[in-house]
Amino acid sequence: MRAPLVVGNWKMHGNKADCEALAKAIVQALKKQPTRIEVAIAPPFTALALVGKIISGSKVKLAAQNCHWQPFGAFTGEISPSMISDVGCDYVILGHSERRHIFHESDDMIARKIAPAVAHGLRAILCVGETLAERQAEQTAKVIARQLQIALKGLGNDVIEKLEIAYEPVWAIGTGQNATPVQVNQIHQSIRKFLLDAFGETKGGQVRILYGGSVKAENAAELIELDTVNGVLVGGASLKPETFLPIARAFS
Ligand code: PGA
Repeated sequence: MRAPLVVGNWKMHGNKADCEALAKAIVQALKKQPTRIEVAIAPPFTALALVGKIISGSKVKLAAQNCHWQPFGAFTGEISPSMISDVGCDYVILGHSERRHIFHESDDMIARKIAPAVAHGLRAILCVGETLAERQAEQTAKVIARQLQIALKGLGNDVIEKLEIAYEPVWAIGTGQNATPVQVNQIHQSIRKFLLDAFGETKGGQVRILYGGSVKAENAAELIELDTVNGVLVGGASLKPETFLPIARAFS
C-alpha cells in the first residue's frame, strides 16, 4: 500500500494572502517531519498558481477541487483537466458531495471526469457517500455501490492506478458529527471489496481509501488505528495550521 494521504480541502475559503500564509506554514512545518505520508492541499482555483509556487520543491502536493471533462470549449465558468495540470496540480477532487448536492452533478457527470483527469497526469480523488436520509433508510451500501459502479465503469488499469476513493458521509461533512470507527470500517471494507472484485487483487488492493467528514486531530487518532483507512480528506480543520498539522502528524 502507498503512503497514507492527507488532503486539505480549503473549499471556497481564502484570498491570496490567506492562502499564501497557510501554504507557507504547512510547507515549513512538514519540512522537519520524517514522513511516510503524502500531504496535498486544495486551495480555490484563484490561488492554485500562487500556492503551487510556494509548495514547489517541498513534499506538499497541489490539488484542485474539481474540473470539467472536456479539454477546452464553450463551458463558461468551468476549468479543464489540462488547465489545472498546467498550473501544477498533482491531484483533483471529483464528485465531492457539495458538487453533487449543491451543483447537481450526477453520477454520470462525475464518471466522465475521471479518465480525462488521469490522461492529463492528475491523480483523481473520487468522493462517495450517503446522505442522512439514505443512511436512515438503510440505503448506504446501495448508494455507495451505485456511485462506484457508475464512476468506475469501463476504466482501465492505467486509470485505476491513479485513483483514490474518499468515503465522505454527507451527514458528517462540516457538521462536527463524524462517523464512528465501526461505521467507517464497515463502508471502507465494502469499498475495498468492490475494488478487488472489479479490478483484481493488485490494482484493486492499492487504491487508497480515505475517510472525510468532520476529521479533527482528536478523531484522527482513532481513524489511524483502522487498517481500512489509508488517509483522510479534511475540510474545516484544514484551514488553520494548528488544526491541520496535528492531523497530518498523526498519520506520519
Ligand atoms: P469537513 O469537510 O472536514 O469540514 O467535514 C470534509 C470535506 O468536505 O471534504
